[in-house]
Amino acid sequence: MSFQLENYDSSVIGIASPDPLRFAFAKKTSAHAGGMARPIMGEQQQAIYTQVLTQPDTSRINNKRCLYIHIPFCRVRCTFCNFFQNAASRKLVDHYFSSLMTELKLKAKQPWTQQGRFHAVYIGGGTPTDLSPDQIQQLGQAIRDYFPLETDCEITLEGRINRFSDEMFGKALEGGFNRFSFGIQSFNTQVRRSAKRLDDREVVLERVSSLATTDAAPIVLDLLFGLPYQDLEVFEQDLKDFMSTGAHGVDLYQLVIGGDAPMLNLVEKGKIPPPASTPDKASMYELGSNFMSKHYVKQLSCSHWARDNRERSQYNSLAKTYAEVLPIGCGAGGNIGGYGLMHHRTLDAYNASIEKGELPVAMMTKQHAQADMFAQIKSGFDSGIIRRSELGLIEGQDLFDWFNPLFKHWQGIGLAELESDFLVLNLAGRFWSVSMAQAAIQILQTELQQMLKAS
Ligand SMILES: C[S@@+](CC[C@H](N)C(=O)[O-])C[C@H]1O[C@@H](n2cnc3c(N)ncnc32)[C@H](O)[C@@H]1O
Ligand code: SF4
Repeated sequence: MSFQLENYDSSVIGIASPDPLRFAFAKKTSAHAGGMARPIMGEQQQAIYTQVLTQPDTSRINNKRCLYIHIPFCRVRCTFCNFFQNAASRKLVDHYFSSLMTELKLKAKQPWTQQGRFHAVYIGGGTPTDLSPDQIQQLGQAIRDYFPLETDCEITLEGRINRFSDEMFGKALEGGFNRFSFGIQSFNTQVRRSAKRLDDREVVLERVSSLATTDAAPIVLDLLFGLPYQDLEVFEQDLKDFMSTGAHGVDLYQLVIGGDAPMLNLVEKGKIPPPASTPDKASMYELGSNFMSKHYVKQLSCSHWARDNRERSQYNSLAKTYAEVLPIGCGAGGNIGGYGLMHHRTLDAYNASIEKGELPVAMMTKQHAQADMFAQIKSGFDSGIIRRSELGLIEGQDLFDWFNPLFKHWQGIGLAELESDFLVLNLAGRFWSVSMAQAAIQILQTELQQMLKAS
């Protein structure tokens, strides 16, 4: 069985260009590659979610597991961000925290939860560091008390350095957090102010350095590239600033503006210059990638680098593979027992469902029968190397061989090197890795559907 590459448009599979890094695809449309799933109707969601939690599928017992807990508050909305949900106020946060702890204890008791071990826990947002120091400690402690964690389980607290006091750091460590991921975006004061980030460069530099110097846990930073006012020179200074802080790892994310992020409106009104074009962002990625190589900072995935071995980025790599992710909280998403889950996004709906003793599910899907295969594809592209041994079989044939026409095409247009058992993305391929993963999944999905129709 094989497929005809000619049936697919160059906007999907990429186009030959003398400059593949900047022009192999038109632009990155979303942050993650996906795969189709079948929606579960509202009235069935509670029953199925309950069944998955109370009568776990034992064939999945050895799957890696993650716990994702969402904190849907930020003190100020950044102009570029699509993740913003609610403005933080003590009253709202405290009410939410109490519902969250109720859900956490309920989820911890379930047979599904107790049947396996968790390899990574991630408290994301929003801005989890907008909880109080005591709440952060309580949350960490509850996770360790109630959930079966692997001995080397990575427990990450995401947030920002604004108001991240020594007291909060101390309480978080006491609670058991062993990794901290801070969104910095850019150190440059003009870039920061125009994006509505709190604190100027000197404050951020000083705080991150002081946290990193304690060496109490890996400190990891998120940097964006492509923000208004952030030209190549500014970005290079951001990279040097990262090095100067001694932080243990860094994510370099290309800015992708979507949804209702306020930035485009501000650009339209002429209040700020436009963000970088895709070819300019490709040049920034090139600069970032070369900078890391020059400083011997180890690349863990297409967008993540580690300066020392303490930084493993377990959650990020596991959540992109076949790992199951148990979601907790308002706006949390995950997947368990072959179902995709999205919790209520509004606080009122979330709090009300917890008060009623219900599971706070808003959307549920039955994952595609080949979801594990799609996840392996996604994870391979995210890591920059697609391995024959990890792709599995399609109708008795190695999927790696089935993809040969596509992989050869990508070698031909300068995105990758095809070896007998590996497809190795080069710099251009790593920049376009999400588009490539999307193309591979789309082709596989289309061909599987046609096979089904024909049979
Ligand atoms: C959910 S946010 C939470 C971070 C934290 N609240 C902060 O403000 O630093 C996680 C990361 O997503 C990234 N992000 C946010 N908006 C983005 C966008 N429009 N394009 C690409 N990455 C984005 C940022 O790097 C951010 O640090
Ligand atoms: S970047 Fe962080 S603080 Fe800013 S709006 Fe997004 S989630 Fe909130």
